[in-house]
Amino acid sequence: MNLSKYIELIKAGEVVAFPTETVYGLGADAWNPSAIQKIFKVKGRPSDNPLIVHISDLQQIENFALDIPESTQKLMDAFWPGPLSLILKKKPEVLDAVTAGLDTVAIRMPSHPLALEFIFKTGPLVAPSANTSGKPSPTKAEHVKQDFGEYFPVIDGEATKIGLESTVIDLSQVIPSILRPGSISRKQIEEVLGTFVEESFFHHTEKPRSPGQKYSHYKPNADVRWLKEDEQPNDPFCLYLLISNSEQASNIINYNGDLNRLAAELYDRFRQADVEGFGSVVIEIFDDLNSHIAPVLLNRIQKALH
Ligand code: TXA
Ligand code: MG
Repeated sequence: MNLSKYIELIKAGEVVAFPTETVYGLGADAWNPSAIQKIFKVKGRPSDNPLIVHISDLQQIENFALDIPESTQKLMDAFWPGPLSLILKKKPEVLDAVTAGLDTVAIRMPSHPLALEFIFKTGPLVAPSANTSGKPSPTKAEHVKQDFGEYFPVIDGEATKIGLESTVIDLSQVIPSILRPGSISRKQIEEVLGTFVEESFFHHTEKPRSPGQKYSHYKPNADVRWLKEDEQPNDPFCLYLLISNSEQASNIINYNGDLNRLAAELYDRFRQADVEGFGSVVIEIFDDLNSHIAPVLLNRIQKALH
């Protein structure tokens, strides 16, 4: 694919959406404050919600992070490029617009080949998910256009593989702490670090450690709810996502136990429900304890429940 017009846009201080292996990101030059302001404007994003810096080369981390502790090095070696965002103490020159004034910065190196090529040619990009604030993250180029308009610049990399946002881990404190679950699990991280890792997902009674945790996320206009015990999937105004039940109908999608496929498609189904006018998305409960993705799916579905 020819990326030159998108590279020119970034260099001119504009924003461009691009695919990653998790979801589509809305990219801007990480060193250009007015380009970064455009991200907040386009998304309607609260200005106290910091952004993830996306890099294409391991060395680039040194321009953002104050130092690279051994734990950071181990996680970079094990999981980059890939869906893991590391929160580290920031260098003083990192822009406040990136970190929302925090003394830490989130960094990740995505694995999608188009993302790597794009960032290689533009330099580090800040990139939140490329959706209007509060909407489900985009997993296809057409989702970005649903939110930002037909003529919005999007690099089309087809449907994203993972479909749920990266794991966010805070390495700036003594005990590493997962602030957002993602497809790289706590168990995988503990194996690499050889130490205990805590999970600190926001419960609405506490002060969040990650500003993004306090905002509503991932919600379609349709109601999202669980399939009730003994409920038959026969309401034509519902879009059913079934795991083990194999009923057939045009408004029923059977995942046959494949939770990775449900994860990859979840946000697409949320958006489909709104485009096709379904009142509810009804999801069958699952309990695959051996799956890395099951708790992540649960986290995102719970945030979308009304
Ligand atoms: O998979 C992903 O991470 C996608 C793709 C595009 O890379 N990006 C993404 O970005 O999901 P965004 O902005 O939608 O979510 C970033 C999350 C937010 O919850 C934000 O609050 C948190 O990371 N975050 C960023 N910097 C932080 C920091 N310094 N301290 C704590 N949380 C931070
Ligand atoms: Mg987001």
